Amino acid sequence: MKKENRGQWGSRFGFIMAAAGSAVGLGNIWRFPYLAGENGGGAFIIFYLIFVVLIGMTVMLTEFSVGRMTATAAVGSFKSVDKRWTFAGVIGVLSAFLIMGFYPVVGGWAVAYIFKSVTGLLSNPDVIGSSFDTFITGTWEPLIWTAIFLILNVFVVVRGVSSGIEAAGKILMPMLFVLLIIIIGKGLTLPDAGKGLEFLFKPDFSKVSGKMLLSALGQAFFSLSLGMGCMITYGSYLKKEENLPANTFIVSGLDTLVALMAGLAIFPALFSFGMEPAGGPGLVFVVVPTIFAKMGGIGTVLSLIFFVALFVAALTSSVSLLEVATSYFIDERGWTRSKAVVFVATIMIVLCILSSLSLGVMGGFKILGVGVFDLLDILTDKIFLAVGGVLVTVFAGWSVKKEDLFNEVTNNGTVPFALLNVWYGLVKYVAPIIISIVAIVGIAGIAQKGVMFLGLSIFVILAIFSKKL
Ligand code: PHE
Repeated sequence: MKKENRGQWGSRFGFIMAAAGSAVGLGNIWRFPYLAGENGGGAFIIFYLIFVVLIGMTVMLTEFSVGRMTATAAVGSFKSVDKRWTFAGVIGVLSAFLIMGFYPVVGGWAVAYIFKSVTGLLSNPDVIGSSFDTFITGTWEPLIWTAIFLILNVFVVVRGVSSGIEAAGKILMPMLFVLLIIIIGKGLTLPDAGKGLEFLFKPDFSKVSGKMLLSALGQAFFSLSLGMGCMITYGSYLKKEENLPANTFIVSGLDTLVALMAGLAIFPALFSFGMEPAGGPGLVFVVVPTIFAKMGGIGTVLSLIFFVALFVAALTSSVSLLEVATSYFIDERGWTRSKAVVFVATIMIVLCILSSLSLGVMGGFKILGVGVFDLLDILTDKIFLAVGGVLVTVFAGWSVKKEDLFNEVTNNGTVPFALLNVWYGLVKYVAPIIISIVAIVGIAGIAQKGVMFLGLSIFVILAIFSKKL
């Protein structure tokens, strides 16, 4: 392995922006608000926060440490410690492919809505819902927007770790913050905005259920980009003198902050206009533009800003997905970066075409009872990421030497980390057990049993065959 040739982050700020760029994405602005909306608001948010702190931060620090310690991307990290663990890395790369099969489709919608915001979408609030349905079930229109989104991805990743991914993150992430703050400012000054705050922050514990807990945990993994080797890969480009616990704290803190900011940008305005919080996946594409449409002229500007923010967030995350798969071919197969990017992007395009069409003309084509878009979403969110989280913690807790891991986390004892032992206990026992319980209960509850079976069989097959990789 030619470690000297691997990319490296140019600066600490650059790394933080890139890692936060990966974490902050559609998960925060598109998914978090609709999950919170569907699951009753405050109670969901409280469990989400508990999972982020207890499990998410634990797993993120584990992934950063394992990545930097081995200085190779997902597959190589596991493999270089113990060949029997190769499959865990392979599952990560596979998860990246699966998420890449639907993520850019939604990214494409965001790009489309930037333009739609200024070309008449808001002129008739009553048809915004039906026009969203017509749009996503269409054939060519969503595909073209997805293609535009994908091309931008390739453009960033092909430029490499420092001048591509890092440079993009440094500009786009601060911009996202500013855009969200503008929208929150407007939302909070609307009449009755307080009802939205109440919905977000006043928990109703009668809403707690097993399904809600799995949603909250799955969302924590998805939103923090965990359980699929992404933070291992980003950690592998980190310099040895970086403080890993501090970076973990900052990156997960920023991610949580943006999710809450997205909630603040949407719910006060939503309640002010007397709309329904449980809008599902269409929440940000239907309810949000409708709210803006009711604001008059300023609404058009805000809508434009909102969808630019959504696009920016999606781009930096999608870039990290592409990087996970790309780095596998660079590190393990010795490919050049451009060859790897083109190869991965080609697979990505095929999957995205299938999942976009599955919402429309290919609606009748079902695998195990669900369309391609939903299949990819369920497989990753409900199965792969959680299992990936168990694998990385069990690996770090039981297979990596404690001394090696501690040296990595504390930079050979030079970085004080008061919670070192607490963290290790979480890695070794608490995280795998809690994730397993929530995942088993949740997986058993997946309505599509065939999908669950497919997901689990993929693990078994990989576990058996991946030693050869
Ligand atoms: N964290 C990203 C989001 O919230 C999604 C993602 C998951 C990106 C896994 C990379 C890896 O949108």
